[in-house]
Amino acid sequence: MQRLAVLVSGGGSNLQAILDHLAAQGREAPAAVSVVISDRADAYALERARARGIAAVHVPRTAPEDALERTLDEHRVDLVALAGYLRLIPAAVVRRWRGRMLNVHPALLPAFGGHGMYGHRVHEAVLASGARLSGATVHFVDEQFDRGAILAQWPVPVRANDTPDTLAARVLQVEHKIYPWCVEALARGAVRLGEDGRVHGHVPFDFARFGVEGPPHPFVPDV
Ligand code: GRF
Repeated sequence: MQRLAVLVSGGGSNLQAILDHLAAQGREAPAAVSVVISDRADAYALERARARGIAAVHVPRTAPEDALERTLDEHRVDLVALAGYLRLIPAAVVRRWRGRMLNVHPALLPAFGGHGMYGHRVHEAVLASGARLSGATVHFVDEQFDRGAILAQWPVPVRANDTPDTLAARVLQVEHKIYPWCVEALARGAVRLGEDGRVHGHVPFDFARFGVEGPPHPFVPDV
C-alpha cells in the first residue's frame, strides 16, 4: 500500500475525487492518502481531510525551506499528488520524489500554463485566445510550474457562450475523472517516468465508468 500525500491550497475537490476513487476500491486500492498538506490554514481541503480522519498539516509560506520535505518524511510518503497547490515545489523535494509526484492543470499543457497561470486566469486566457479546445492535463512535477512530462490529457470543447466560470466548471469535472485514475496508475506501476524523461506505460482509463464511450471527438465543437 503506497502512502500518498496530497498538497492543496484551496477547496480540495480534486482531493475529494481521489479519496472517493480510492475508497471505492476498498482493500484493492494500491494507495491511501496518509497526509494532506496546505500552505493555507483556511483551505477547505484540510476540512475534507479531517472529515476522513486523515492528518491535515499546515505548512505556511513563512516556514523554513525544508519544512515540506520534513513533513513528507514524518509521514513516510511514497507518492505526492498536487491538487490546486499554488507554490513551487522545492528542488530538494522534486529530486527525491521525481517520477513519484503528479500535478493536475486545468488546460491542455504546454499551452496556458506556467508561473501565475492558475484558477480563473487560465480560463480567461483560453477564452481570450479564441481556442476551441481546452481541457485537463496530468503531468509529473519538475523544477518549474506545469512543465513536467505529461501522463494524460482530456479535451473539453470551448462553447461560444462560455465564461471563465462555465469553462472552469466543465474542465473541473474532467479533472475529477482523469486525475484519480492517473494517481492509481502510478501507484500500481502501470505508468512511470523513465530515465529518458519520457512517460512509459499508460493510464488504463475505464471509459465506461466515465459514463462516456471514450474521449469526445476533439474536432466536433460542442456549441
Ligand atoms: C483545479 O482546477 C486544478 O487543476 C488547479 O487548481 C484547481 C484546484 O481545485 N491546479 P480544487 O481545490 O481541487 O477544487
